[in-house]
Amino acid sequence: MSLDMRIDQLVAQQRLVLRRLAESVAHEGCRLLEVGSWCGDSAVVLGNVAKRNNGKLFCIDWWKGNIGTDLERTAMHQDVFHVFWRRMKKRGLAATAVPIRASSDVVAQVLRQRRFDMVFIDADHRYEQVKRDIANYAPLVKPGGILCGHDCEGWAEDFDSEMLQAGRDLDYHGNIHCGVVLAVSEAFEDVSINCAVWSVRAGHVPGEWKPTALKFPELPHSGIAPPVLMEEYRAYNLIRYRGSVIAVAHAAGEMDIASLNAEKIAELSRTNMLFSSPSVEQARKWVDELSSNQ
Ligand SMILES: C[S@@+](CC[C@H](N)C(=O)[O-])C[C@H]1O[C@@H](n2cnc3c(N)ncnc32)[C@H](O)[C@@H]1O
Repeated sequence: MSLDMRIDQLVAQQRLVLRRLAESVAHEGCRLLEVGSWCGDSAVVLGNVAKRNNGKLFCIDWWKGNIGTDLERTAMHQDVFHVFWRRMKKRGLAATAVPIRASSDVVAQVLRQRRFDMVFIDADHRYEQVKRDIANYAPLVKPGGILCGHDCEGWAEDFDSEMLQAGRDLDYHGNIHCGVVLAVSEAFEDVSINCAVWSVRAGHVPGEWKPTALKFPELPHSGIAPPVLMEEYRAYNLIRYRGSVIAVAHAAGEMDIASLNAEKIAELSRTNMLFSSPSVEQARKWVDELSSNQ
């Protein structure tokens, strides 16, 4: 097996979020469904929950990869479905996982009379297809069931709209899956986002959705969008984080903004290595002023 196959697509915290979401709807004979399985990372998580409840996990994927990405190039040379199915067998999930090999659009039509306890969407990340997957699969979720998906790094208002528009037709842009962020923000008034897994629960009236609002005490920062590099301006990186734009001087070296404590921030601010501003425009102005004073 080649090393560039990117077998694991989730980080540990995301597996935990996914498992908890599935457990919150699981019952004897439950039916879970995922759109986008690749080599089976999420399928193992969801499949285990289904198996413990004598249920099934339906895995929809064309196993051709995501158009225009490394996954597509990999799938041209390797049998990804084979890797997926071998993993399901090895993990004791061959009788639980039901692979359906076709495009998500086609399968949604075939399954339109069926209902599921949970649907997890993680296929094409481009805006139009995510929007279509949400529209096609939302009606397949039972009242009280969960619709959720991967790679939603925050709410649309967390990011510059210019950046989101520039990346909406790409798999991701500047580390953000802009198409997913935009489509999810448009589809629902409010959603839960935990470690980039978005989720809503179906109400009893069709089309009514509420954030799942599950608590993850072991993941205290799970709902916060990660820092995003907006641009380099003069000798600073301008980084959007928690509603502000943080300017970090190149001279400060590599740093993880999310892990800085108040004391460290104060120390860096005193030497103009870091400052916080309400917008990119304002940050640029302050960088200009600092540069002209030097
Ligand atoms: C990011 S991967 C899924 C990762 C998987 N959930 C995991 O945890 O490993 C996306 C998958 O969606 C599939 N895919 C992309 N576009 C699709 C489409 N229009 N219809 C069906 N499958 C699609 C790709 O073949 C790929 O396997």
